[in-house]
Amino acid sequence: MIDIRDRVRNTALHAKIVSAVEAAALIKPGMNVGTSGFTPAGYPKAVPLALAERMKKEPFKINLWTGASVGKELDGALAEVNGIQKRLPYQTNDAIRKSINNGTIQYTDLHLSHVAQMSRYGFLGGKVDVAIVEACAITEEGHIVPTTSLGNSASFVQSADIVIVEVNTSQPLELEGMHDVYVPLDPPNRQPIPIVKVDDRIGTTYIPCGPEKIAAIVACDLPDAVRPLAEIDDDARAMSGYLVEFFQNEIKAGRLPKNLLPLQSGVGSVANAVMSGLVDSPFQNLTVFTEVIQDGMFDLIDAGKLDFASGTSLTPSPEGLKRLYANIKEYRKKIMLRPQEIANSPETARRLGIIAMNTAIEFDIYGHVNSTHIMGTKMMNGIGGSGDFARNGYLTIFFSNSVAKNGDISSVVPMCSHFDHTEHDIDVFITERGVADVRGLSPKERARVIIKNCAHPTYQPMLMDYLERAEKATGFAHTPHLLDEALSWHTRFMQTGSMKK
Ligand code: COA
Repeated sequence: MIDIRDRVRNTALHAKIVSAVEAAALIKPGMNVGTSGFTPAGYPKAVPLALAERMKKEPFKINLWTGASVGKELDGALAEVNGIQKRLPYQTNDAIRKSINNGTIQYTDLHLSHVAQMSRYGFLGGKVDVAIVEACAITEEGHIVPTTSLGNSASFVQSADIVIVEVNTSQPLELEGMHDVYVPLDPPNRQPIPIVKVDDRIGTTYIPCGPEKIAAIVACDLPDAVRPLAEIDDDARAMSGYLVEFFQNEIKAGRLPKNLLPLQSGVGSVANAVMSGLVDSPFQNLTVFTEVIQDGMFDLIDAGKLDFASGTSLTPSPEGLKRLYANIKEYRKKIMLRPQEIANSPETARRLGIIAMNTAIEFDIYGHVNSTHIMGTKMMNGIGGSGDFARNGYLTIFFSNSVAKNGDISSVVPMCSHFDHTEHDIDVFITERGVADVRGLSPKERARVIIKNCAHPTYQPMLMDYLERAEKATGFAHTPHLLDEALSWHTRFMQTGSMKK
């Protein structure tokens, strides 16, 4: 039995320490369950595992609302027992993905900055019935000290009828003090978010809760199930090199200061590789205002290049997690975790002038981006925070390899098979082939720059042929398309296994 009494500083609350099975019994069929967790970081583990065991014996479903993706002990365990009716707002779990794409789970893919306010407004099908939050500790006042992510926890705790706290002893107490908890008022009473610099502190280091709202406290020692990142390959290195060159030109042109502007970097291997690439760049005194803090940012801190990083979760690889815990006293001086409603806020992204850098599954010759759907139908992960930043950044960049699946798929296509970000949001595209700076260009100008600089040579002649035929057929219309043919590349891949003719 793990003893968590020293971490539950309000001694009256010791009476509420129960087993995971007893806490899971508080969850009723059909409830909206709002949990902590953002990327596989800081999510509850013991209670969901006990809930899944209960669902095996007595099948029922809940609606699961989180910050973003969570680990296998929550998403995986509940999906495997068919225990989720509705899932939102983001996931990366194989079992959940399968259930979304075979119709077993209804999935609402949301901009991550919207989730907390939508749940408070009552837009998501009722309120939060139960909040389950992983904690480092509970304060004497009964407030919750979060762990490796903040996500939507503060808003879920505020709205929930009851709160279950999972005190996780694998999470170091040094995490206390790294959080800045601020939940905005809702319209018509909302005030400006008073952040003008990435390291501005505007809230509390704990999630306000109070002892009365806490229904159960559970001990847990399971660590975050963080995942390894792919090796940084030549393509990722090439993209990173183009980015550094692009930034240098922007500085020369007087469009960026020498230490750039606050950086936002998306999820996944490409995004991490791009951040790591900045270690060898000439830029100093960098700042980060982002969602997810991955290994690449620890590299930048260790290299003395990063002054401060604000995010909503710490999502290192298994190696990165060890590094974080071993050096937490140093990292905590330079890292702050905020609710995703603040980290991803359109208001702060615009005010701080962030450089938004995210990854596309595919983009089209006119500059639209698909971040979520494989071949236009199958959900991959979700839009995450990419839209929050892409629409509102100072400079919006999308990365992608020019081809996927050993070259059988071109990631630059005539028309995206699904749209997450529009031509109006994006300034620059980068593939391992080069940079397409499309700022100020018309659709037809954009198409030529994207094909020439970003598409793979195998597909460049096919894309130019499409563009020229579409121009002729439409009399050089504003955005020329051959609508019958626009998605034929995807159809060809589905039928023959390759987009090549
Ligand atoms: N068509 C079909 N499949 C494609 C493809 C394309 N054009 N491009 C990539 N893929 C496949 C890859 O083959 C790979 O498949 P696999 O899992 O079967 O191996 C998968 O998509 C992921 O590609 P990968 O190259 O490993 O990319 P990644 O790890 O960098 O992730 C995204 C890329 C787009 C999936 C990821 O960044 C994402 O989910 N983005 C949306 C959310 C987001 O941007 N959040 C950030 C906000 S802060």
